[in-house]
Amino acid sequence: MIKVAPSILSADYTKLGEEIKSVSGADYLHFDVMDGVFVPNISIGLPVLESVRKITEMTLDVHLMITEPFRFTARFAETGADIVVFHVEAETPENINKALDELHGLGKKAGLSVKPNTPADALIPYMDKLDMILVMTVEPGFGGQKFIPEMLPKISNLREYIKNQDLKCDIEVDGGINLETAKLCVNAGANVLVAGSDIFKKADRAARIAELRAV
Ligand code: DX5
Ligand code: ZN
Repeated sequence: MIKVAPSILSADYTKLGEEIKSVSGADYLHFDVMDGVFVPNISIGLPVLESVRKITEMTLDVHLMITEPFRFTARFAETGADIVVFHVEAETPENINKALDELHGLGKKAGLSVKPNTPADALIPYMDKLDMILVMTVEPGFGGQKFIPEMLPKISNLREYIKNQDLKCDIEVDGGINLETAKLCVNAGANVLVAGSDIFKKADRAARIAELRAV
């Protein structure tokens, strides 16, 4: 089963409630948090998450692109995230383990993300604690960038590892996802597709979500 996660980074924030309603048939709602340090952009944070939580029952998939994320993982969980994903490059191994355990203790799903230049091996020490791996298919920071096809072997290697170890871990891809690149990612082993511009620039978002699910 392929899951689709529209990224509200591409939404019109003057009418965020309506924008979220327009994608409410999707599986997850992807919520990008940027701090201007880990990535060269600043987006949204806890107050917006609190408001979004009040208006939707969708599964909120929070992607933290921030330095030292352990400072904030529990707060995002307590503010309404259902899944909290943070970057393996941004934290110490000790704090990564603490954050994953703490998120599970709060009854949340936990995931780690890798930037394009970070090898899949960086995730191996944490694999048995992960509900989801997020493979960035563009450099994190901005919507509307071009998919990096060199990420496909990373996805297939991770899928093979998960299969061989008999783990239950989703593989999410994020960046430059459209019908064509979604198909490549699904064939490589991804099962959760984040799409920002490809969904929000369409008039019929429900139709595009269905098309992505069916690639
Ligand atoms: C980028 C964000 C993405 C972004 C994807 O750093 O993590 O979630 O919204 O945007 P598109 O789908 O337009 O590439
Ligand atoms: Zn994202």
